Amino acid sequence: QYLQKGVRHLCERGLTRVPSKYILPIQGRPNLGDTGNASKHNLKLPVIDFTQLQGSNRSLVIQSLANACEEFGFFQLINHGIKDDVILEMIDVSRRFFELPFNERSKYMSKDMSSPARYGTSFNQNNDKVFCWRDFLKLSCHPLQDTVSCWPSSPADLREAVVNYSKSTKFLYLMLMEAIMESLGLVETTKGGEAKGSLEEFEDGSQLIVANCYPACPEPDLTLGMPPHSDYGLLTLLLQDEVEGLQIQNQGSWVTVEPLPNSFVVNVGDHLEIFSNGRYKSVVHRVLVNSRKSRISVASLHSLPFKSTVRPSPKLIDEVNPTRYKDTDFASFLQYISNSSHDEMDAKTFLQ
Ligand code: SIN
Ligand code: FE2
Repeated sequence: QYLQKGVRHLCERGLTRVPSKYILPIQGRPNLGDTGNASKHNLKLPVIDFTQLQGSNRSLVIQSLANACEEFGFFQLINHGIKDDVILEMIDVSRRFFELPFNERSKYMSKDMSSPARYGTSFNQNNDKVFCWRDFLKLSCHPLQDTVSCWPSSPADLREAVVNYSKSTKFLYLMLMEAIMESLGLVETTKGGEAKGSLEEFEDGSQLIVANCYPACPEPDLTLGMPPHSDYGLLTLLLQDEVEGLQIQNQGSWVTVEPLPNSFVVNVGDHLEIFSNGRYKSVVHRVLVNSRKSRISVASLHSLPFKSTVRPSPKLIDEVNPTRYKDTDFASFLQYISNSSHDEMDAKTFLQ
């Protein structure tokens, strides 16, 4: 039962070995090599400059965005315009939440996957046979006026920090979706040549903020912070601190994404892969832990409204490109995930 209390709790007890509950079968281990560092194959992701996207180079940037989504399913976003203090506060308040006494954090433990505030450990602690080296806090952000009062009231500045952060990332998300629609050739233009893409459905979509805490781990080659998985929604904006750990699948191997200061790592989710009828890829990724530094990351996951059906855009279907995916929705994803565990699922079974 003490394992359910999470990895921070374990680490506070002063640990020199990884408990057996966290030891992956050999074929699932990260294979760090003899340096004890993350993979030596670091990857520089394509970089998208948000300011340039708003300027006269827009069409060039849109082309790079399309290439990044096709080839890597990932890119880094720089010059995003979100104020430093909004970002620093988000990371800092997450760190302080995980440092609270366990009794304070445990108020938010819940088996209900759709609870607006959920603290937990591993990937899906109710089903996982082997646990992951991760504690998390998931906060639902849509609509804010209904969810904020359900979030933790301690640390005292948590709600304000997350509101600011979620509004800022939502804005970036909408601007990115507009550009992505354009890159897929789905933006209609008026007679005057003005874009008139509708962002309404995206504006009303769900947003989940997930703060992750990966404490330093005494035996990082035996376990993972997050198992291989793809993200279910349309787009994820990830903020990582300066400690590396995120790896993505690229050309058949695992590569580490180098943290780039003041940037977001953005990735295509399953729903965007479906919507683009397979043109953009929802790429499998995982998180390594290390023995020296604990790591914090904050993911902002964006999806369509809860009840919307996700299907390939009719404009992307023709004789050469027949429909490749079944229709799905967010509710069926929740159903799927609450019944699964990372040891048993294929990273992308949900798509098949
Ligand atoms: C995630 O895959 O959602 C988290 C990635 C990370 O912590 O870097
Ligand atoms: Fe992810």
